[in-house]
Amino acid sequence: MPTPIDMLLDRLHTQSNAESVQRARARFNGTDHEFSAIVEHYFALSPSLRQRFLSEHGVLLADDTTSMQGTPMSLAISAEMGRFLRNMVLAQRGSRILELGSSYGVSTLYLADAVRSLGSGKVIATERDPRKCAGLRENLDMAGLTDYVDLREGDIFDTVLDLHGSFDIIFIDAWADAYLPLFQQIERLLSPGTIVLTDNMYSAEETVAGYRDYLHHHPRLSSSTMDFASGVEFTVVVR
Ligand SMILES: C[S@@+](CC[C@H](N)C(=O)[O-])C[C@H]1O[C@@H](n2cnc3c(N)ncnc32)[C@H](O)[C@@H]1O
Repeated sequence: MPTPIDMLLDRLHTQSNAESVQRARARFNGTDHEFSAIVEHYFALSPSLRQRFLSEHGVLLADDTTSMQGTPMSLAISAEMGRFLRNMVLAQRGSRILELGSSYGVSTLYLADAVRSLGSGKVIATERDPRKCAGLRENLDMAGLTDYVDLREGDIFDTVLDLHGSFDIIFIDAWADAYLPLFQQIERLLSPGTIVLTDNMYSAEETVAGYRDYLHHHPRLSSSTMDFASGVEFTVVVR
């Protein structure tokens, strides 16, 4: 029997996927039948091959931020990624969670749901688009998770300046070209045992190359890219 939060997440995932597919269809120069075949093939591929496959077929998803209806696109994580985030919080028993790039709050809902199960803790969410912040607040309210989230509205580069102490888990899902300066800005919030999960390592592979390199050669960190969802960087702070 699906819970109310499962039903809310299901609706938000469906909306987000529909926006991305409609955007891609509008740019694809071919028939509906050809487009359906590409979509089917895309999901059958290993995550590391998907971006190249889309480029080869003229279906590039990068840089779209406005839906066909003129609203800011959700660009939410997948349900698979959400369950992974929830389990990471539960396994780490982390009470201080930082999320960089929250949109309408799909990932925030998974993180906050885990924090609620643990009985204490907070997710600090960050988002600068006011329409997304309003939607996120509404979604948290619907899920009964408002008390577990502290939304910092504004540019992440400004809002993180007010943060102190260290975090148990940090989830990075902002625009990929900002990953490296963003990470450098939050390095002071890391301590041994902190886990940093970064999305879009495959879907923005070229853009994040410098960031990936930085993590892989950092003396305090152990980092590897998981062939999962949109490509997830799993980074552990060692010292
Ligand atoms: C890929 S979406 C995040 C999706 C979200 N994690 C989810 O699962 O629903 C990236 C978000 O980061 C936000 N963002 C990008 N750069 C930002 C910045 N410098 N400050 C605040 N928000 C930013 C964008 O507005 C966008 O909503």
